Amino acid sequence: MNMISSLSQYQDEYKESVENPEKFWKKYSQKFLWKKNPSQILEWNFDEPKVKWFSDGKLNITENIFERNFNLKSNTAIIWEPNDINEKSISFTYNQLFKRVCSFANVLKKLGVAKGDRVIIYLPMIPEAAISMLACARIGAVHSVVFAGFSASSLSDRIDDCNAKIVITSDGNYRGDKIISVKNVVDSAVEKSDSITNVLVINRISMDVTMVEGRDVWLHEIEKSVDDVCNAEPMSSEDMLFILYTSGSTGKPKGVVHTCGGYMIFSQYTFENVFQYKDGDTYWCTADVGWITGHSYIVYGPLLRGAKTVMFEGVPTYPDPSRFWKIIDKHSVNQFYTAPTAIRALQSYGDKYLEGASLNTLKVIGSVGEPINEEAWNWYFINVGKRKCPIVDTWWQTETGGIMISPLPNIIDSKPTYATLPLPGVQPILFDNDGNEVIENNIEGNLCIKFPWPSIVRTIYGDHKRCKETYFSTFKGYYFTGDGAKRDDDGNYRILGRVDDVINVSGHRIGTAEVEDAINQDSSVIESAVVGYPHSIKGQGIFAFVIVNSNSDNVNYFDQIRKTVTHHIGPIAKPDKILVVPGLPKTRSGKIMRRILRKIASNEFQNFGDISTLLNPEIVDIIVKKVKNL
Ligand code: PRX
Repeated sequence: MNMISSLSQYQDEYKESVENPEKFWKKYSQKFLWKKNPSQILEWNFDEPKVKWFSDGKLNITENIFERNFNLKSNTAIIWEPNDINEKSISFTYNQLFKRVCSFANVLKKLGVAKGDRVIIYLPMIPEAAISMLACARIGAVHSVVFAGFSASSLSDRIDDCNAKIVITSDGNYRGDKIISVKNVVDSAVEKSDSITNVLVINRISMDVTMVEGRDVWLHEIEKSVDDVCNAEPMSSEDMLFILYTSGSTGKPKGVVHTCGGYMIFSQYTFENVFQYKDGDTYWCTADVGWITGHSYIVYGPLLRGAKTVMFEGVPTYPDPSRFWKIIDKHSVNQFYTAPTAIRALQSYGDKYLEGASLNTLKVIGSVGEPINEEAWNWYFINVGKRKCPIVDTWWQTETGGIMISPLPNIIDSKPTYATLPLPGVQPILFDNDGNEVIENNIEGNLCIKFPWPSIVRTIYGDHKRCKETYFSTFKGYYFTGDGAKRDDDGNYRILGRVDDVINVSGHRIGTAEVEDAINQDSSVIESAVVGYPHSIKGQGIFAFVIVNSNSDNVNYFDQIRKTVTHHIGPIAKPDKILVVPGLPKTRSGKIMRRILRKIASNEFQNFGDISTLLNPEIVDIIVKKVKNL
């Protein structure tokens, strides 16, 4: 099956993927190298839920990157761009990358890691982040990458949840003008762990670190004792490939499980079609491998396609806000994929940072992670895409594994703020809050998906019941995304944001319950309620209403609570606004009325609906007055 190159081909593929999904995906699966060809294409029901794609097939995803792309062995696979402009970028050909992956895989084996074992990767954006993921996949170990901005306590929760055997980390790293002590975080996280046998450490900045005898191992030392040949472990299509933790409306982050075959197929299919990647192109996604975007569109999708993918260690504003544009010119990037929050932040510095940039190699520019507002969309289109590059506003989620709704460049027209049309294999449907399908256009509904696509979440690690409750119970028989959306008269979807208690801060998903739990650990806090509010750069900001045990003017609650949250979760979850209040609006059964707080936090001080049924209706006015004075 060739890449989609016309609207009629898209329409035909879409039609076939809905009318005969098994035939459609079987045809595409024939591009891949199977150790045993699948004959069973799809088994599913959304009640248990159970979804199996290609279940009797056997494969290894890395064999589909390296052995299948053997003719590309001298082509560049990864270009790594360091944080510091004076440090040289490093390129790996497919062959060089293959060797590094194999020797890394042999290191893992030497440390006793076997098929099915869980490996935590807590690394900055260095090549070893991709190499270690692929090394796990090579031997059938299950990787779980944890974003290196998370705190020791978040890391330790994830280690415990999946009972990980080893952690891969670095001594430290450079991020903008900061030096981060990565290994220190790991040390405190694994201190009380019963499951971790080793910590494998990569020397990134030659920083002084404590190496615990018998537990901690330097990669460069142990790597000397292994060779660079490692056969690919045969994996069943439904064997776990990775776990990635993500936040939800309740409780601790959940381990979203993706499996080998379906994920492989959907990540390559979506990558090549959405970015219209052609041989020889250079593609750059600015995400971090700690998020799903980094998994599917820095590592797996591009490398399966045999593409040249750029990995960037630093931040968009270091040494100044022209860094992205300089990297695009330096590496002649053709497809560029970033998040609205970065676009808005760079826009806020003014156009002068774009003045020296040519950007004339760009063909497609993409957006992901949160709704992109019209102003940012236009700025991106005019200043970065120079009015000639289509914007692909790609909607998807950790749980979907790959892009679900997106324009196809020069095939499906972009429309500001719309993710536009579903990709082949994706069948969206909207429901109102009573569970009736929203048939009419231009009306908001809850976005659900009717039919399994190959990389749909299979389970929540260790808690299948939670998977069912979270995604398959609100609208029975459908996968519920947690997003609100509406459809225009041409069938284009516009994503309106989360309809649950999840906030999207700078494209990062944060559960309000998680932040409240962290705030409540502060000894001066009695109770808290966290909501999102519109933020001009971050998309949404975090607003915390807190009741403290003695409201003393001498205490800087703002700093103190932010520190507590950074300690328990990480800096990304720090509230932007903290308001000490004497009470929180509650129903008679004691539930906090977040709906009211959301309005107040968004500076909407009217139309709260009926508040007479509240336990303490007078508190609403008190809070409103306080917010007005903030
Ligand atoms: O609310 C949607 C938003 O990000 C959520 C998924 O977050 P996460 O699992 O962290 O994955 C982010 C990267 C795929 C979604 O439920 N979201 C993602 N892309 C878009 C978006 N909202 C609007 N437009 C998008 N293009």
